[in-house]
Amino acid sequence: MARIDALWPEAAEDLREEQILAAYAPPQVPWLRMNFVESLDGAVTREGLSGGLGGAADRLVFDLMRWWADVVLVGAGTARTEGYGSMRLPDDAASWRLAHGLAEQPVLALVSGRLDLDPASPLFVGAPVRPLVLTVGEAPRRARERLAEVADVVDAGTSVVDPARARAVLADRGLGRIHAEGGPTLFGTFLAAGAVDELCLTLAPTLEAGGVGLIARSPESAPTAMRLAGILRGDDELLLRYTARPADQESPRASASGDPSSSRTEAPLS
Ligand SMILES: NC(=O)c1ccc[n+]([C@@H]2O[C@H](COP(=O)([O-])OP(=O)(O)OC[C@H]3O[C@@H](n4cnc5c(N)ncnc54)[C@H](OP(=O)(O)O)[C@@H]3O)[C@@H](O)[C@H]2O)c1
Repeated sequence: MARIDALWPEAAEDLREEQILAAYAPPQVPWLRMNFVESLDGAVTREGLSGGLGGAADRLVFDLMRWWADVVLVGAGTARTEGYGSMRLPDDAASWRLAHGLAEQPVLALVSGRLDLDPASPLFVGAPVRPLVLTVGEAPRRARERLAEVADVVDAGTSVVDPARARAVLADRGLGRIHAEGGPTLFGTFLAAGAVDELCLTLAPTLEAGGVGLIARSPESAPTAMRLAGILRGDDELLLRYTARPADQESPRASASGDPSSSRTEAPLS
């Protein structure tokens, strides 16, 4: 297992798996967490993929964050580009989830307007739980019918998926712990709608240059104040957690008292 140290709010060396999981416990439910890796100069991809940027610590935390998820939310562009396949967490994760009051496996939810998704893909046919596709009223009818054979296809907007409606759809299904894995278009629309509670950002120790863009893209800028909630370090990678909070709320440092779970405010997990 990759060595990961905690730097803030409490310092601790060589965290055990359970300690890393505790650091990523959703502070409340519902909670939407967005996870990204970027280079020091802000690149989100190397040769078109995010995987080239992240090291061992990023990969470990990427996997462990899924353990907490009721639903893993992914933009169709990321699913297509990154070649998402069947999302099945390993047996130890499934046991841990059951012991913590979660379903054995999270639901995979894809966000797509065009529905250019292959129903025969392992992403659908190999899924341990029937996936969800969040789409729009204007989505092509044929594609919708074909996908409906392998997934629940639900409208959450007219021409674009409205983040508030998407969250309501997930809430109705009891999927409050939302773990989003991007990509930038999804993040941009959710950020602009004020629908993101937390950003987990790995700073990868590399400079990429080139023309690769921001982790969040939207037609208009959406300045959003964030508060630092935690810093882990794995080798030369920094694993940052930031929460979006109204400016008048107490800072995470004041409320957390060094215990990553003590800032939970509602619906604590078993
Ligand atoms: N560095 C990282 O951590 C990281 C993480 C994820 C992805 N990436 C990279 O980001 C790149 C992909 O970027 P991207 O912006 O295309 O990713 P994306 O946000 O996953 O995909 C964009 C597509 O998702 C759908 N979509 C997203 N938000 C929507 C909304 N509100 N309403 C309707 N549809 C919506 C649309 O699908 P349809 O076209 O089907 O309508 C849209 O074309 C890839 O190179 C990937 O490797 C990097």
